[in-house]
Amino acid sequence: MGAITKAVIPAAGRGTRFLPATKAQPKEMLPIVDTPTIQYVVEEAVACGITDILIITGKDKRSIEDHFDRSIELEMCLEKGNRQQVVKDLRRISEMANIHYVRQAEQKGLGDAILHARYHVDNEPFVVLLGDAVVYSEGRPCIGQLVDCFDKVGGPVIGLEKVPKEKVSRYGIMDGQKIGPRTFVLSDLVEKPSIEEAPSAYAVGGRYLLTPDIFKYLETTKPGKNGEIQLTDALRRQLGERPVFGYQYEGLRYDIGNRLDYLMTQVEFGLRREDLKGPFLAYLKRKLKAG
Ligand code: UTP
Repeated sequence: MGAITKAVIPAAGRGTRFLPATKAQPKEMLPIVDTPTIQYVVEEAVACGITDILIITGKDKRSIEDHFDRSIELEMCLEKGNRQQVVKDLRRISEMANIHYVRQAEQKGLGDAILHARYHVDNEPFVVLLGDAVVYSEGRPCIGQLVDCFDKVGGPVIGLEKVPKEKVSRYGIMDGQKIGPRTFVLSDLVEKPSIEEAPSAYAVGGRYLLTPDIFKYLETTKPGKNGEIQLTDALRRQLGERPVFGYQYEGLRYDIGNRLDYLMTQVEFGLRREDLKGPFLAYLKRKLKAG
């Protein structure tokens, strides 16, 4: 099997759960400490051998393109101030991968966003990383784990995350059979079930390895929940006709699209930063003590 080199990052959503911050800027550009969320996502893909990235953008998303482009004026200004290291760091961002963009004119859902990648990915398997979700992993990055699983099973692989029972109603939940370490063959996907109805505690975790036949299902998937074309609906149809797998990745998922998770993400990433950890932890301890 040829290596997987293409990634699709949907980043065209409205981000209505994060208004007013997302009124005029993409939620994917919200920073975690000092780095936009979508940069972590691109870096995860690049670390796993992805060389070609298609970002699905839309209205008010120009800053994503600017971020991954060079800013010659800024570089010149920094060079004048003898800040060569900063210039080097900034250049690295624009040289990480070949990044392409396609605009989703109407926010018709995640399934529709991925359908916009059809002609770009052509007839190859590809990975999908949601632009508003970061997965922190100390070992192999999440999307690489899905690629490794694909090399074994030879079919689409959905990244899965085990969630506490009381949270199942927030996610797409899978039903399926365990066939190996962390590996499942799926029999169904249920969107946001109640605790009683949830067939498992494994949630769809914002990372996918898809095969090009998904496009034929997406093309004919009718709008579902919220009037949006849902990727889950297309995957349900696909798994009825061919084996679709799930892989419980090692790593922690941070969904920055809602306020509480965003705050927790800042704290955890702040504490992982060598340059901030000491004073930040001291501050948090003082705060907790004060109540
Ligand atoms: P979400 O459902 O979390 O994004 O989609 P949203 O619609 O922006 O969120 P809310 O509910 O209004 O706050 C997950 C990912 O899919 C992208 C989003 O940008 C996000 O990265 N997406 C979603 C699209 O690219 N297009 C869409 O039509 C919907």
